[in-house]
Amino acid sequence: MKFTTLENKVAIVTGGAQGLGKGIVDCLARDGADIAIVDINGDGARKAADEVKATGRKTLAVEADLTRNDQVERAVKEVLDFFGGIDILVNNAGGYPGMSSLSERGMRIADRGEDEWDGCYDINLKTTVLMCRAVIPHLVARKSGKIVNISSASATSPSGTLVCYATMKAGIVHYSRMLSRDLAGDNINVNCVLPGIIFTPLWERGGAELSKNIPGAENWTPREFFEKTLVPGVPLGREQTAEDIGNAVAFFVSEEAKNITGQSMNVDGGMSFV
Ligand SMILES: NC(=O)c1ccc[n+]([C@@H]2O[C@H](COP(=O)([O-])OP(=O)(O)OC[C@H]3O[C@@H](n4cnc5c(N)ncnc54)[C@H](O)[C@@H]3O)[C@@H](O)[C@H]2O)c1
Repeated sequence: MKFTTLENKVAIVTGGAQGLGKGIVDCLARDGADIAIVDINGDGARKAADEVKATGRKTLAVEADLTRNDQVERAVKEVLDFFGGIDILVNNAGGYPGMSSLSERGMRIADRGEDEWDGCYDINLKTTVLMCRAVIPHLVARKSGKIVNISSASATSPSGTLVCYATMKAGIVHYSRMLSRDLAGDNINVNCVLPGIIFTPLWERGGAELSKNIPGAENWTPREFFEKTLVPGVPLGREQTAEDIGNAVAFFVSEEAKNITGQSMNVDGGMSFV
C-alpha cells in the first residue's frame, strides 16, 4: 500500500541521528515530509539531516538534550522559525542510561536504585512529555496534527533486568492513550509504536552489559548476545529493522490512518499479544 504523500508536512523526529530514529526519518522523508531531527548528538543529527537533504527534502538538525525543558523549548522554537509550522511529532529519543546496572546479576526489582529509576524516567517518559508540552499548543492552534510515541515491546511483557525502562515505556503507552482523548476534539491523533528487537547502537551497548549476566557468555560480542538470546524469542524467528518501525510510523501519520487514535502497534515479530 502506498500512503498519501506527506508533501508540505513538517515532521520532528527526536533521536533521529541513528538507529530507529534514522529509520523513521528515512520513511517519512521517502513519503514526502520535510524533517527536523532533534538529538543530543548534534554531529549525528547534522550528518543524518544532510543525507536526507540529498534526497530533495528540506531538513534541519537541532542539537538539544530533551531531558531539559529549556532546551526542548529552544529546539521547538528553532523548528518553527525555520519551517513556519509543525505537523508531525515523533517522540523516539530514549534508551537505557548508565547501562552498567544491567549487568548486576540477580538484582531484585526492589534493589534497583533511585538513579536508575530517575535516569529511565528522564530519557524515556520525560523527554516525551516535555516535547508534547512544547509542540501541542501549535498543533491545537491549527486544529491538526499527528503524534507518534515510541514505546517498546518490554512495556507489555516480562522484561527481566529492564524493569525501570519497561515501566517508563508502559507509562508512554498510557500517557499516549490519555493524550489521544484530550486532543481528539482538536483533530490531533496520538498513537504508539512498540518495537521488538532491532540491532541499533542501543543493543551494541546493552548486549555487552547483558552478556555479563550469562555464565560463559562474558566474551560474546553484542551481536552474538543479540542473535543467541533475543532472536530465538521472536515467533517469526527474525529481528526487526529500523525501516519496519519507520513504516509503522509512516502509516500512523498518513491520511489513511485519520480515524485511528489512542492505539498501540506492536512491531515485534509476534512477541506481544496486547
Ligand atoms: N533497538 C531496539 O531494539 C528497541 C526496541 C524497543 C524500543 N526501542 C526504543 O526506540 C527508540 C530508539 O532506540 P534505538 O535503538 O534507535 O537507540 P539508539 O541509542 O541507537 O538511538 C537513540 C537516539 O536518541 C538520542 N538521544 C538519547 N538521549 C537523548 C536526549 N536526552 N535528548 C535528545 N536525544 C537523545 C541519541 O543521541 C540517539 O541518536 C528508544 O526510545 C528505544 O527505547 C528500541
